[in-house]
Amino acid sequence: GAEMLTDKFSRTHTYLRISLTERCNLRCTYCMPDEGVELTPGQQLLTTPEIMRLARIFVEAGVTKVRLTGGEPTLRRDIGEVVRQLAELRPVGLRSVALTSNGIVLARQLPALKEAGLTAVNISLDTLRPERFEQLARRPGHKRVLESIRTAVTLGYDPVKVNVVVMRGVNDDEVADFAALTAHQPINVRFIEYMPFDGNVWSDSKMVPYRELVSRIQSAFPDTPLERLDDPSGEVAKNFRLRGHRGSVSFITSMTQHFCSDCNRLRLLADGNLKVCLFGASEVSLRDAMRGGATDDELRSIISLAVGRKRAAHAGMWELAASANRPMITIGG
Ligand code: GTP
Ligand code: 5AD
Ligand code: SF4
Repeated sequence: GAEMLTDKFSRTHTYLRISLTERCNLRCTYCMPDEGVELTPGQQLLTTPEIMRLARIFVEAGVTKVRLTGGEPTLRRDIGEVVRQLAELRPVGLRSVALTSNGIVLARQLPALKEAGLTAVNISLDTLRPERFEQLARRPGHKRVLESIRTAVTLGYDPVKVNVVVMRGVNDDEVADFAALTAHQPINVRFIEYMPFDGNVWSDSKMVPYRELVSRIQSAFPDTPLERLDDPSGEVAKNFRLRGHRGSVSFITSMTQHFCSDCNRLRLLADGNLKVCLFGASEVSLRDAMRGGATDDELRSIISLAVGRKRAAHAGMWELAASANRPMITIGG
């Protein structure tokens, strides 16, 4: 029942992020080290039946939303099948099957994914300038990402969330341009405070605090009030709208104003580890348990113990920058 996913701070976990692959077709500097990461050998990654067995257990225990992440989730060959099988968990209680993608190959897959039951799409885009894209992502593809955003809008996803990791001296001169995208389109631009992960050479001087982003937007649109909207429960963004705009702008303030007390998220990584917090090294292998013959009840008690060990909040940005975690690419955000 519900207690399996409730921790000792009374947080109920209704949102599961499932990483479908560690591979990616970009090499974003904030997500992975220059030298790349060592990929988990194929036979140690979860198979689709293993993912579905765990997904069902989580949904039966109260998860209502699954978000597929990576690496880049569209690189998993059977992603359509994963979405379709997840959509079959609707009668069990799953309400939302969402995807976070870098948009490189998404456009052509999206109609089929929608047909399979995908309910929401978040697309990462850190610059509106083609030449800058390649510096940030270490690969070409700017046009394809824009095309994926257009396709998502055309297919009726509303809003299409566009994730922008803001880095000082890198893309922070584009904040107003991104906000302007919301004028006539059902786009939710989400400015994300740059977070430290293994290998991403984070520094606090590159992180642009939420307060500063708000005031920059407000001064770029002096005649248009930036109005606070309600934040749907269980979301990590603080939501705003420039008055009269069709879309909205949000801020994900993990560093300067964390939202851990409302955390509802768990993560199932591609290698089968359950990670109870985006930060910190605490993980448990559900893959090993399954492959060792664990019953569903045994899996439930392993999950319940892991959730029970979850900390009240992350350690704060200074400690995070110094502590062990994984590279972001193997967590999926
Ligand atoms: P929604 O499901 O639409 O609310 O999206 P999301 O923001 O949870 O997911 P997305 O994959 O688009 O991630 C956007 C940013 O939020 C990334 O930088 C994530 O790392 C960050 N994020 C997602 N979940 C958490 C979380 O539990 N804690 C923290 N600190 N950041 C998170
Ligand atoms: N800090 C903040 N957000 C990050 N993301 C990847 N790395 C970082 C980081 N270091 C975001 C991506 C993607 C989401 C899954 O996580 O931009 O939108
Ligand atoms: Fe939840 Fe950890 Fe994110 Fe805080 S940092 S909101 S506890 S996942």
